[in-house]
Amino acid sequence: MSLPVLDVKELSFAYPAKALLFEHVNLQVCAGEAVAIVGRSGCGKSTLSLCLAGIIPRLIGGQLQGEVRLFGTPTKEMTLASISSRLGVVFQNPDTQLFFSTVEDELAFGPENLGCAPQEVKHRIAEVLESLGIEHLRHSHPHQLSGGQKQLVALGAVLTLQPDIIIFDEAVSQVDKAGRALVFAAMAALKQAGKTLIIIEHELENLHMADTIKVLRGGRLELFAGQL
Ligand SMILES: Nc1ncnc2c1ncn2[C@@H]1O[C@H](COP(=O)(O)OP(=O)(O)OP(=O)(O)O)[C@@H](O)[C@H]1O
Ligand SMILES: [Mg+2]
Repeated sequence: MSLPVLDVKELSFAYPAKALLFEHVNLQVCAGEAVAIVGRSGCGKSTLSLCLAGIIPRLIGGQLQGEVRLFGTPTKEMTLASISSRLGVVFQNPDTQLFFSTVEDELAFGPENLGCAPQEVKHRIAEVLESLGIEHLRHSHPHQLSGGQKQLVALGAVLTLQPDIIIFDEAVSQVDKAGRALVFAAMAALKQAGKTLIIIEHELENLHMADTIKVLRGGRLELFAGQL
């Protein structure tokens, strides 16, 4: 087996003044693999994804123990910017991820922030708009789009950072059926292109793409055996 691109060792976390949410979480994900993490509402899936993305403990505090390694490097030793250029998260509610008045500006923000040259930013935007089939939305206001289109834009804003690993945290839960088809098609294309996907869901319907399914239950991450 090749070296995992994401290696989680003995991770545990508690929000301030709260009980441990999970402990002894171990997870190895290889390049190009699609891992689903399921679990009941409130079991800590989003919190785990925040830990993987380094947002916990940098922006949200709590008692974090254990280690997350991205391509062999402990995320403790990385900046949020360098983590986000390797691992991106698409959250449940696209409205919390969209800030700008055009789709183009939304997609430009990440690479501009990383200090990419304007030509490179333009190139990445064009590439991502094309790969997601949303060129026609380039000048649209994100908040005027449908739920599915918004999620594609939120995904686009992650993809212009060119991460190798993308976490979808219940990315279709607030999207209608037509929108889901758009997001699933984008996920399938990313998998085809060799990206590593972590698909977080509390429904069991959206897991057709997963190579491995894990369940977060009772504070432990285990192989899924059919029960939430
Ligand atoms: N910032 C926070 N501070 C304190 N507690 C929090 C915070 N965010 C979440 N929680 C609590 O932590 C627990 C796990 O929440 P989390 O959002 O990680 O669950 P989840 O599995 O993603 O749920 P869902 O499927 O509904 O999205 C919940 O009890 C939640 O109320
Ligand atoms: Mg959640």
